[in-house]
Amino acid sequence: MSGGDFVKVPVLTSYHLLHPKPAVIVVSLDSNGKPSGMTAAWTSPVSMKPPLISVSISPRRYTYKLIKETGDFTVNVLDVNLVAEAHFFGTRSGRRVDKFAESKLTAERSSRVKSPHIKEALAVLECNLYREIKLGDHILIVGEVLEAYVKPGAMKRGIYDPKVAKVLMHLGGVGYITISDEIITP
Ligand SMILES: Cc1cc2nc3c(=O)[nH]c(=O)nc-3n(C[C@H](O)[C@H](O)[C@H](O)COP(=O)(O)O)c2cc1C
Repeated sequence: MSGGDFVKVPVLTSYHLLHPKPAVIVVSLDSNGKPSGMTAAWTSPVSMKPPLISVSISPRRYTYKLIKETGDFTVNVLDVNLVAEAHFFGTRSGRRVDKFAESKLTAERSSRVKSPHIKEALAVLECNLYREIKLGDHILIVGEVLEAYVKPGAMKRGIYDPKVAKVLMHLGGVGYITISDEIITP
């Protein structure tokens, strides 16, 4: 760190320097076929062929148990107007609360996986559990994307249209943000 160009950030919370990140809801099923899910910000694409994405999930999450049992999950990208639902799914556990029953979100049957997706989502990635890698206090859940879809008009030329798709992003703590209207090109 040279001179006064930077101020130190605690390494334990340095991941905040990588935010904002989309606040998605990961959905899976319990052994009785009841859906549940949790909000996750720690997602990333990891491979194009095969199409793999990852979600870093604490083994303490009920959703982790469901993904292990079901062997698949859906990743649901949300519009900014679902911020209250995202926060609810990210602060309550499915062990104690039926999150779908207590929110306005609807679990709808998926096409390629057992786990349902969220009807009100902006976009959905249906994933098979491809691998799990224990890394520190989280498990990197790697999913193979079998199917993906988006609300009509939300994409233009293969990428989100920022005027239409107001993707919900997590900035940190209780702070959320969305994308600006303009695409910035170099
Ligand atoms: C915005 C936001 C992002 C979150 N991101 C993650 C994440 O990436 N990984 C994780 O394990 N937990 C994450 N959480 C915490 C879980 O969503 C939370 O512990 C949830 O209550 C777990 O529910 P469950 O026990 O029903 O699975 C996040 C919470 C919020 C509010």
